[in-house]
Amino acid sequence: MKWSYRGLIAVTTLVVTSFSLSGVHAEAYRKHAVVSQQGDASDIGRDAMRSGGNAVDAAVATAFALAVTHPAAGNLGGGGFLVAFDASSGKVFTFDFRETAPSGSTPTMYLTPEGKLKPGHRAGPRAAGVPGTVRGLALAHKRLGSRPWADLVRPAAKLARDGFVISGTLARGLNAQLFDPQKVDRADVPEDLGANADRLAHFEASVKAYRHPEGRPWREGDRLIQTDLANTLDRIAANGPDEFYQGETAKLIVAHNEKLGGLITAADLAAYQAVERNPIHGQFRGFDIYGMGPPASGGILMMQMLNILERFDLAADGPKHPRTLHRITEAMRRGFFTRATEIADPDRVEVPIEKLISKAYADKLAASIGEKAIPSAELAPFRIEHPEGTDTTHLSTIDGKGNAVALTYTLEEGYGCKSVVAGAGFLLNNEMGDFNLRPGYTDALGRIGTKANLIEPGKRMLSSQTPTIVLKNGKVRLVTGSPGGRTIPNTTIWVVLNTLEFKLSPREAVDAPRTHHPWFPDVIALEGKSWPEETLNALRERGHRLKTGGIQGDAHSIMVDLDSGVIHAEADSRRKTSRSSGD
Ligand code: DON
Repeated sequence: MKWSYRGLIAVTTLVVTSFSLSGVHAEAYRKHAVVSQQGDASDIGRDAMRSGGNAVDAAVATAFALAVTHPAAGNLGGGGFLVAFDASSGKVFTFDFRETAPSGSTPTMYLTPEGKLKPGHRAGPRAAGVPGTVRGLALAHKRLGSRPWADLVRPAAKLARDGFVISGTLARGLNAQLFDPQKVDRADVPEDLGANADRLAHFEASVKAYRHPEGRPWREGDRLIQTDLANTLDRIAANGPDEFYQGETAKLIVAHNEKLGGLITAADLAAYQAVERNPIHGQFRGFDIYGMGPPASGGILMMQMLNILERFDLAADGPKHPRTLHRITEAMRRGFFTRATEIADPDRVEVPIEKLISKAYADKLAASIGEKAIPSAELAPFRIEHPEGTDTTHLSTIDGKGNAVALTYTLEEGYGCKSVVAGAGFLLNNEMGDFNLRPGYTDALGRIGTKANLIEPGKRMLSSQTPTIVLKNGKVRLVTGSPGGRTIPNTTIWVVLNTLEFKLSPREAVDAPRTHHPWFPDVIALEGKSWPEETLNALRERGHRLKTGGIQGDAHSIMVDLDSGVIHAEADSRRKTSRSSGD
């Protein structure tokens, strides 16, 4: 199926407005738009649409470009999920390119004989699952793309070969990974670095790929050139995805794993398949919500939480009222209990999707929500794992025909397992940590040991990713999603509620402070410090434990004004490098 572009000729109005709120440049477009974590990558996606490509082409081109310009999360060596709306058929398609456990993996591979987690389960190739990104982008492109594959990959190769100008954020991120924190200018080192022993600096090929040619710390405005990565991208452009899984790149991945004790074999790579799955679909107040099914938990969580919340008149109280925050928290608590106990790789575990997203089930869950917090332990006797890392990335695209893509992909933690494949110039993920690593064991830190998400060769690990598309009467109203580990579904539901329920402006819907409750730890995390003391006290009186501060998520979203047709492509201001692009 290909999308047609004849209708585009009629569209003549270009950028409509350009304005700035909260220090972020927000743009409204008439024709097509991309919003992602890095401006050069958004421009490459826009260019794909200027050359006649559609929203999927734009998403594929942007994702390859982010693998160059946003190395902490943009990737070739990771995995993710893509949700696409095809305007010509009115259908939503979803693609799962989650990593899989290598054939040599076992449920207890990261444990000592005493049952403790081994050091190094987060760094080095042994932490990596078999990457899915290149097959996933290729599958989405084959099903729905319209431009030649090579045209979508080559701009990224050029960026890697010629280099691009790095932001202060990327300079600080790379310096933190490459230098002893004691020896670089403190201003260049994030606060939390001291404790992180697993860094790019520990891997020879990673240092080669990312150090400044003069060996000094990076500065804003420097140019980062990645020649090995450029060569890899050129091979993928010329030879297609098989290059990554069976060609020269595959050989480099296998040699790297053999040298550094990783488990990914040539057979694992050759066997890897991206999968087209049925979307999760439900309705919320007359809007059609489409999300990603398992092994992503985001779609089920989003639908279950919205079904619960539809039972209450949240808009009457407004988004910051303690009763609204209480109700949303209780929906999150129940959604995350579902996540911990019911959701995993659907090819290995039966996930009762229909039940979990049914209105009848939501009625039962909603009826259990009263005026007071219910302790999470009353739902079941488990706690949740330690928080996940802070680097995944989400992008949204829409084209002139009304096709749209929500794409979230990741290396898991920032810079994944920190180990660049020697000679190939890209990082491998450390996604194996998204499995439940201690079978049957639940500790005070809240690690989950439930069976559904234990390691098995070839299995996909559970994910929180939540790429989401909302339609109204068959037209795109909202495209959203976010990074942020377990906060992802909760960040995304805030953008959805802010838009559909509280009717905030596009900019406000992204900017507004968010909350997170992951079932365990049994604490509401309220973003930022702007919460009035009386709101916090009212929540405490309802029995909630609270923490405030920090930032939550990075939800680059597109909202379409269905009356005027104006496309609002809202880069999230929480990460400074993000930017939209469009016409
Ligand atoms: O798939 C998942 O749920 C996680 N690996 C996502 C990690 C993440 O979002 C880290 N970044 N912000």
